[in-house]
Amino acid sequence: MMAHYYNCLFLFTVLLPYTCSQDAVHVKSPYGLGLTSSTLRWTSAFIDTDSAEIDGVTVNGEAGGVNSSYICRARHGGHNIIGSTHARLCQIAYFGEVFSYPSFEVLTNPSSFARLDWQLWTRFYLIPDGALETRLSYVSRFKVDDVYYGGRLDSTLGRGKLLTVIDGVVKETTEGEILVETEPIAYEITDFKYTSGTTKLKILVDEEVLLDEATLSNEESDSTSTVSTIVSYDIPYKVYLAHVRGLVKGLNTTISLSTLPGPITTNWGREVEGKFSRQTKEVSYELAKGTLVNLTLTGRRIVQEAPYTAKLFAKYPDGKEVIHNLEGVMKTEWVTQIKVEYTHPHFIANNTLAPTTQRTTTTTSEKKIRDYSDYDYMDQQNDDSDAVNEDERSKDPYSLQAYSGSRSVNSCSFTASLILLLLYCII
Ligand SMILES: *[C@@H]1O[C@H](CO)[C@@H](O)[C@H](O)[C@H]1NC(C)=O
Ligand SMILES: *[C@@H]1O[C@H](CO)[C@@H](O)[C@H](O)[C@H]1NC(C)=O
Ligand SMILES: *[C@@H]1O[C@H](CO)[C@@H](O)[C@H](O)[C@H]1NC(C)=O
Ligand SMILES: *[C@@H]1O[C@H](CO)[C@@H](O)[C@H](O)[C@H]1NC(C)=O
Repeated sequence: MMAHYYNCLFLFTVLLPYTCSQDAVHVKSPYGLGLTSSTLRWTSAFIDTDSAEIDGVTVNGEAGGVNSSYICRARHGGHNIIGSTHARLCQIAYFGEVFSYPSFEVLTNPSSFARLDWQLWTRFYLIPDGALETRLSYVSRFKVDDVYYGGRLDSTLGRGKLLTVIDGVVKETTEGEILVETEPIAYEITDFKYTSGTTKLKILVDEEVLLDEATLSNEESDSTSTVSTIVSYDIPYKVYLAHVRGLVKGLNTTISLSTLPGPITTNWGREVEGKFSRQTKEVSYELAKGTLVNLTLTGRRIVQEAPYTAKLFAKYPDGKEVIHNLEGVMKTEWVTQIKVEYTHPHFIANNTLAPTTQRTTTTTSEKKIRDYSDYDYMDQQNDDSDAVNEDERSKDPYSLQAYSGSRSVNSCSFTASLILLLLYCII
């Protein structure tokens, strides 16, 4: 009985990661090992007659449609073989023969974050890093009379052969194009907007913090005069942007938030913490002879969690930049609403109240720090219309996906395997 449980445990540990990574797309890497694409997926597809709208990568690089040819792969003899769709079937070339499968997987680019380029290939070229690989075959295409035919480059045949199916016949060539994914080297995120509607902004902390104190006194002057000083303070911050599927974890990321005096840098997926130090403010008070005022500089420390939309600039090694719409959830902490408060003037000699000559000015040396009230979150706080979404979010606060078109079905057979394993374990 005990052994049986150990077997169960072992199977769980070994099989769970496996069953869940089946849909991963491997790319050729300089280290010889297949890397997993952060963005691309093999997604189960079954093109039925009416709704053949698939969010897949097409052979001609254009948007998909009912009659488009998609990059696909089908199980053949126990292995996944790359091919392309034709008349709603995945057609593959295998040892000179054509096989067509009604059930297969298509190459998808959920959230469109992946950069894909078709690169020229001849048998005198090495296979480029980033080429999409399945068992030493690479996603390829071959052009005849302005029509592209998808297929695979089999690197095990001589110096490599490109196998496509043209009009039901296998065509072997030693040149064509090969599909390559290029990963960005850095991200820049700007134009943040808090979104209302689906999920609500959560203020986790809103408290007053003391930033600096000072005393202004008029001891020497014979008459009433304006006394000034400069107070300085730090603005600490913490920013965490929840991971968005399709983005590369750990990539250098610059974030520009209007609530902070300048841009901050982090690695995508990691919380960033720091401070803008030595922010300064000049403070003045008109004081009668022999009087003083004490002043305090305070701000409000806000910690909030909110859904946002923003613009993401993905930067590539060749200098190209691609803009995407980004949607996610972020948690931020910063100090805002910085203000100076003065005591009443007091006589220096006996510390009793002096008549007021109240005239003060303050100037901030930094650019205006935007107030969090700019985001009219108060409106959202009073809006209880989407209580259901709120509940959903509390279970999985970071569940938002990039919205630029992800509608793929995750082909990961997680649920099925779990049920099978559970059955096995119960019996
Ligand atoms: C798809 O191809 C079929 C058969 O060639 C044709 O009748 C149909 O109009 C095409 N549909 C589109 C949307 O191009
Ligand atoms: C990422 O940031 C680190 C530290 O700031 C820097 O050393 C590195 O060169 C950056 N990498 C890229 C690709 O910009
Ligand atoms: C001003 O500050 C000094 C030093 O902190 C303190 O001794 C004094 O009582 C304060 N005076 C007033 C009027 O608050
Ligand atoms: C405190 O000192 C000021 C100036 O030295 C004086 O004018 C005032 O009358 C004094 N007040 C008290 C209550 O002693």
